[in-house]
Amino acid sequence: MKLIKLNLTILFVIVFVFNAKPQDTSYKLTFKKFENLAPTPPMGWNSWNKFGCNIDEELIKDIAKAMVMSGMKDAGYQYINLDDCWHGQRDSLGFIHPDPEKFPSGMKALADYIHSMGLKIGIYSDAGNLTCGGRPGSRGYEFQDAMTYASWGIDYLKYDWCNTDGLNAEGAYKTISGAIKKAGRPMILSICEWGQNLPWRWGHEVAQLWRTTTDIHDCFDCIIDHGFWEAWGVLQILDAQDSLRRYSGPNNWNDPDMLEVGNQGLSYNESKSHFTMWAMLSAPLIAGNDIRNMNEETKSILLNQNIISVDQDPLGIAAFKYKSTNDIDIWVKPLSNNEWAICFLNRSKNIKELTFDWSSEKIKDNLINKELDFSKTKFKIFNLWTSKNQGFTNKPLNLKIESHDIIALKLIP
Ligand code: GLA
Repeated sequence: MKLIKLNLTILFVIVFVFNAKPQDTSYKLTFKKFENLAPTPPMGWNSWNKFGCNIDEELIKDIAKAMVMSGMKDAGYQYINLDDCWHGQRDSLGFIHPDPEKFPSGMKALADYIHSMGLKIGIYSDAGNLTCGGRPGSRGYEFQDAMTYASWGIDYLKYDWCNTDGLNAEGAYKTISGAIKKAGRPMILSICEWGQNLPWRWGHEVAQLWRTTTDIHDCFDCIIDHGFWEAWGVLQILDAQDSLRRYSGPNNWNDPDMLEVGNQGLSYNESKSHFTMWAMLSAPLIAGNDIRNMNEETKSILLNQNIISVDQDPLGIAAFKYKSTNDIDIWVKPLSNNEWAICFLNRSKNIKELTFDWSSEKIKDNLINKELDFSKTKFKIFNLWTSKNQGFTNKPLNLKIESHDIIALKLIP
C-alpha cells in the first residue's frame, strides 16, 4: 500500500511538473540561420577597403547608381554594404541611429532607395561594446539592433569582433543569429572574427559566410604590421585557404576578405590574379574599390563573366592546390557539367615558362573523389581571360606567364 502511495505521489509530481511548463513556447530561440540565402557566394560592394570611415548617404546612393550603370548589377553584383562608421548614438531607449549629419534621411530611406534599384543593402555591427572604428557595438543590444535593422529593410549584416572582452565567439554569433531569426527578416550573416576561433567549424548553423583571416591590404605580397595586428596581401591570404576548402559550399562560404581590385596597390596582373583566385576559392565577390570611377582595366576584371561563372558555379566546390612548381601554383576547381577550371599563378617577380603535359599529370580531387583522366577523356581548353579556345588536352600546353599574372583555363569534356 505504501508503495502504491509513493508511486502515486511520484506520478502527481510528474504530471504537475509537466503541466506547469509554460504553454507559450515563443521564448524558445532558434539559432538556425535563414535557409538558402546564399546558394552561391554573395556578390556586391563594401565601403571599407576604399573609403574607411568616410561614408555618407550621397556616396552610398552614387555607388548604387554606379552598380547599375557600370553593368555590375547585370553581372551579378547585388549587395551594397555599409561597413563601419555609419553609426550615430543610441537614444535613451537604447535604439541605435545613423550619424544624423552623414545619413540625414535615415537608414530606412537609404534602404528603400537601394531596393528601388533592384539591389540589396548590408550594414555592419560588432559583437563587442564598440566597433573596430569606435562606434557603438551591439553587445547587450543584439535583439534590439536586429529588430531595428529588420525595420529598416536590411538584407545583410557583417558582424565584427573588436572590443569583445570576455565573450565567447561561437556564443556571441549564435546570439546575433538568433536575434536576426527572431526579428523575422531574412538577412545574410557575415561572421568577421578573422578566423581566430575557427568559425568554419561552427559557422554553418548560424551564418552564410565567415572571414578566414585578418584584413586584406591592397598589395600582392606583403605583411603590414599595425602593432597588435597585421594586414595581409593577396598571397598571404591565399596561402591560408587551401586547408579550409572542405568547409565551404552552398550557403556556407569561407571569406578570404573583400576585393582590392581597382585599388592603387595592385597592378593589372595582380588584380587579375586576385580576382581569379577568389573565384577559384568560391569566395564572396565583394568589390572594395570606387566603382563610380573605374578605368577600363578594372571594369574588365570585375565584369569578367567567365571568371564570375567559375565563382558562381552551382556546385560551389572550392579549388585545391594541385601542385607548386618553380614558383607557379597550379589550382584546380571542379565545376558542374564535368567541367574543370585550372589556373597557373606566377608568384614570382620574373616571367615564367612552363610546358604542361596533360598526359603525365594525375589530377585527383580527394574531397569529392573525382579524377581528371586525360588518357580517357579529351578536354577542350578554353582560356577564361582571352575567351579563346587553346586546343585540346591531347597535346602538351606551352605557357608563358608574366610576373604575378595568372592563366585561367576551363576544361570542357
Ligand atoms: C575590422 C574588419 C574590417 C573592417 C574594419 C572596420 O578590421 O576586419 O573588415 O570591417 O574592422 O573598422
